[in-house]
Amino acid sequence: MRPVGGLAKRIENRSASLFERGRKVFPGGVTRTTVVRDPLPVYVERGEGAWLIDVDGNRLLDLNANFTTLIHGHAFKPIADAVAAQLERGSCFANPTEHEIALAELICNRIPAAERIRFVNTGTEAVMFAIKAARAVTGRSQIAKLEGTYHGGYDWAEISEHTDPGTSATTPPIALNNYRGAPRSVEAETIVLALNDVERTTAALAGTEGKLAAILIDVMPSRCGLIPIEPEYLALLSNYCRRNRTLLISDEVLNLRQGFEGASARFGITPDLMTMGKIIGGGLPIGAIAGRRDVMEIFAQRDAHGWLLPQGGTFSANPLSMVAGLAAMQALDRSAFEKLEALGEEVRKALSAVIAKRNVDMSVHGRASLFRIQPSRRIPRTYREAFASEGPTSPMPRLCEALLRRGINLPRHGTGVLSTPMTDAEVRHLSDAFAGALADIGL
Ligand SMILES: Cc1ncc(COP(=O)(O)O)c(C=O)c1O
Repeated sequence: MRPVGGLAKRIENRSASLFERGRKVFPGGVTRTTVVRDPLPVYVERGEGAWLIDVDGNRLLDLNANFTTLIHGHAFKPIADAVAAQLERGSCFANPTEHEIALAELICNRIPAAERIRFVNTGTEAVMFAIKAARAVTGRSQIAKLEGTYHGGYDWAEISEHTDPGTSATTPPIALNNYRGAPRSVEAETIVLALNDVERTTAALAGTEGKLAAILIDVMPSRCGLIPIEPEYLALLSNYCRRNRTLLISDEVLNLRQGFEGASARFGITPDLMTMGKIIGGGLPIGAIAGRRDVMEIFAQRDAHGWLLPQGGTFSANPLSMVAGLAAMQALDRSAFEKLEALGEEVRKALSAVIAKRNVDMSVHGRASLFRIQPSRRIPRTYREAFASEGPTSPMPRLCEALLRRGINLPRHGTGVLSTPMTDAEVRHLSDAFAGALADIGL
């Protein structure tokens, strides 16, 4: 790595040699594109609470938390104990266990929109089955989703995830496949809506009445600049769904962490279906589809040919994920959420003070345990506004690199995530490192 502003405090000998080994077995040297880092990924040796220790012995405050999963940080004792005990009794069976009922009960008792639930292994799978369920219930194949939102790797959910408003902006936005060779029919079956833009969305929905199985939303989509969906916009989508017997799917794989009852409750909606993942697995693989009892019944219905919506999965509801998830969720009581809420406020305030003091063209926003450093003075309202500040001149990659050298692991798009083991000391470390990193890159 090149030193930033002469502050090359990090050592990365072992990371460099592991990357060399990785290049001999993985295309691009790594086994998931999301860990790619220029010029090399940071290989981790272990995690301790809110901190990562990399293979070269560098200590990093972890503001990624495995893509927002680890709400209790690393190696949380109740989870480690529950998993260790379950391992002694077996890791997976082709039979149900009591553990899956216990986790389902906790979630259904807590989340208003979750009357019934099914477990799968990832958020991608949860979104895929929620869309399939909406199709099976309505007998329609088309869906609508928001421009720029990330929902995992299912073809329809991936549409227009990377729309570049500079080159492909249209009114209303168009459906663009997310990988080369994807079937054009996927584009034809997906309507793309502009987040918080009532006029464009009304135009896009005109003529779709009776055709859409679902509208898939995320109430505060991270890849869209972590912009909250506005009440008027939410009302437009909810009313459309009610009028047209289209199901509203709230993807809370990331945003369930917004509160004790999840994100849709915080935003005042009761979706027909919702998806979960990340925090409900306590750091082990998980996903879930939940929703209204009558809608979820589709998973249990069959006719003369078989299940109307087959859903299995070799590792779905494996007891390790179930016991880890239960330990994590039990520890996430109302007071844990209050602590995270206060911590989020403290971090946003501290970083905003640094920005004001240095008078840089940046802002900080977010909610609950999520914050985003935005490379513009104005907080964006729409995907296109958020995208505009992410161009090639954005300081964010340099800033994240400088932060890394000062002991902070922040994803390059600038969205940071907080966890329950963090204290004032971590907030101070972050704001000091932020001020230092801005100076390192000449801002
Ligand atoms: C909103 C949202 N939906 C779906 C997914 C996909 O989840 P997974 O990575 O577990 O497949 C993610 C992952 O970050 C997400 O943020």
